Amino acid sequence: MLGNKLIGRTLLAFNKLGSSNEVAKRLAKKQASEGTTILAEQQTGGRGRQQKKWFSPPSTGLWFSVILKPQCHLDRLGLISLLACVAVSDAVKSELGLRLAHKWPNDLLSHSRKVCGILIETEFTSQKLSHLVLGIGINVNQMAADFPEELMDTATSLRMETGVLVDRRRLLIAVLRALEKCYLNFLQRRFDLILRKWRDGCPFFQRTISVATDGGRVEGLLEDIDEFGRLCLRLPSERTIVLSVGDILLRNMEAIR
Ligand code: BTN
Repeated sequence: MLGNKLIGRTLLAFNKLGSSNEVAKRLAKKQASEGTTILAEQQTGGRGRQQKKWFSPPSTGLWFSVILKPQCHLDRLGLISLLACVAVSDAVKSELGLRLAHKWPNDLLSHSRKVCGILIETEFTSQKLSHLVLGIGINVNQMAADFPEELMDTATSLRMETGVLVDRRRLLIAVLRALEKCYLNFLQRRFDLILRKWRDGCPFFQRTISVATDGGRVEGLLEDIDEFGRLCLRLPSERTIVLSVGDILLRNMEAIR
């Protein structure tokens, strides 16, 4: 049915989990094969980036994690989240006709609200990557009233954006297929293809953005992303800096897509 060689070839589905990333990490340590996918109907301890919680109620979203073991230079790992964004947005476009906006490094938005988030957790043994877990959370069929108050202004779902109750199983298959395609491109070092598709979906280029970094907030013109998926930001001083971690802040920006 799925027809993938790698991603989701082994798919373990659970009714309720703490976090699918946690389970995937445990299985990866026990030598689960590359592409093994853990799907949760509900997560009670869904995790987001920066120690945030990820709201994962039952029967409304797609919450899953994939074990990957890429043999690549560590510099290229930043491209994994970009390829995951491309895969999800390609699948959503082809299934629902909805164009999502890519927000660096790993969010997908519609009308400036978050539809999908990606959490990558890596495991190293003597400075060599042993595996990584790619966790993807997609808000699919929630209605506005389903989101907790703190997310009401910032989150949305595919159903809210399209007005259609989405077949989650069909969408999952489309995402896993797109993920396989993008990941094989990555393994074949076709990085340009991934970068071009990611750039195509990003509406922030040549715009002034604010980025929260470990060292504080920086503001500048988004010039590009480089071949490693890092953000190139031109500061008011005309100097260009390259960021590999950070968060684009959306406040005070005009609405996008
Ligand atoms: C973020 O935007 O902060 C990342 C959110 C990632 C959520 C997904 S849902 C499936 C997987 N399991 C988790 O606990 N988190 C990720």
